[in-house]
Amino acid sequence: MYTQAMDTMAREGGAKLEKVLSADEQQLQQRFDARIDAGDFIEAKDWMPDNYRKTLLRQISQHAHSEIVGMLPEGNWIGRAPTLKRKAILLAKVQDEGGHGLYLYAAAETLGTSRDQMIDALHSGKAKYSSIFNYPTLNWADIGTIGWLVDGAAIMNQVPICRCSYAPYARAMIRICREESFHQRQGFDSLLVMMRDGTDAQRAMVQDAVNRWWWPCLMMFGPPDDQSPNSAQGMRWGIKRVSNDTLRQKFVDATVEQAKVLGVTLPDPDLKWNEERGQHDFGVIDWSEFWRVVAGDGPNNRERLGMRVKAWDDGEWVREAALAHARKQQTKLEAA
Ligand code: 3HC
Repeated sequence: MYTQAMDTMAREGGAKLEKVLSADEQQLQQRFDARIDAGDFIEAKDWMPDNYRKTLLRQISQHAHSEIVGMLPEGNWIGRAPTLKRKAILLAKVQDEGGHGLYLYAAAETLGTSRDQMIDALHSGKAKYSSIFNYPTLNWADIGTIGWLVDGAAIMNQVPICRCSYAPYARAMIRICREESFHQRQGFDSLLVMMRDGTDAQRAMVQDAVNRWWWPCLMMFGPPDDQSPNSAQGMRWGIKRVSNDTLRQKFVDATVEQAKVLGVTLPDPDLKWNEERGQHDFGVIDWSEFWRVVAGDGPNNRERLGMRVKAWDDGEWVREAALAHARKQQTKLEAA
């Protein structure tokens, strides 16, 4: 089922060629396929096909960068949080996202790509990060809405990755999902307070934020299954466990009920329960917007990348100081 053809396609003069595997490699490939079929986890030291490694690196890199860039829209509001409690929660959340990025960069390092290489790819615009973080945070209700909807969508997508076939990624995801769950709860709680105890103006702010974030959140799950070039292989290898459309549908079904508790309207006139399917129908997603944002032309792409590059450049002296300190310690140790 996991043929070498999928793993070793090479291009030469425009034609697709299959690299011929040696007898040893064929045996390793068969053993790998059997382990995947049996639901085994693959560790860093285990043999794996080149394309399995590449696919993992592509997904983990996208994921790690999303966590780090995702700190920016919320970080903007730390100094403007309305109460000490909300500020402490937001600080903890933004720090958590930084930690998630580090777990994921570390998982990618076990596959042979260094954090510096990945950060370089992000800063040069070669690596992707989630489309959702290219939208602006205009008011305080956006922060609650990011927690409720963006982190809610992230959990829906990420819980199945705790069973990813690559063990270091799966282990990182278990820790990440625990924290994402707190992130979703705090967002929902923040919005609930505004909706129940707030003024009419605050309730309108929440509705406005939900109107702006709803459709971009549905896009977070990626293109429809029949237009997703990586899904089939990712799922065959157990890297992805559930398809983009299935996760999107689960998110819609769960969120409709939560919106009722909050008392907000989800901005989709076509959203309704379908008795026959036992799921909600929902409107058509504007995929041209999604691809525009992914290609770098969303409302905040340039600002987000600019901020990341600036933070990296501003931090150069810290990295140099840390390395100089490490060298000094090493010299002391060697002299002792
Ligand atoms: N934003 C940006 N790019 C996206 C995207 C999105 N929302 N959804 C898909 N894409 C990209 C893919 O990376 C792929 O591009 P590539 O081939 O150059 O890598 C292309 O669009 C086609 O999509 P596919 O469906 O074929 O790609 P995948 O099979 O990899 O599925 C995915 C996409 C569902 C996002 C999958 O990669 C995944 O589950 N990733 C891990 C989770 C993740 O990255 N989450 C980021 C969300 S935010 C977050 O985690 C932060 C939290 O704190 C909120």
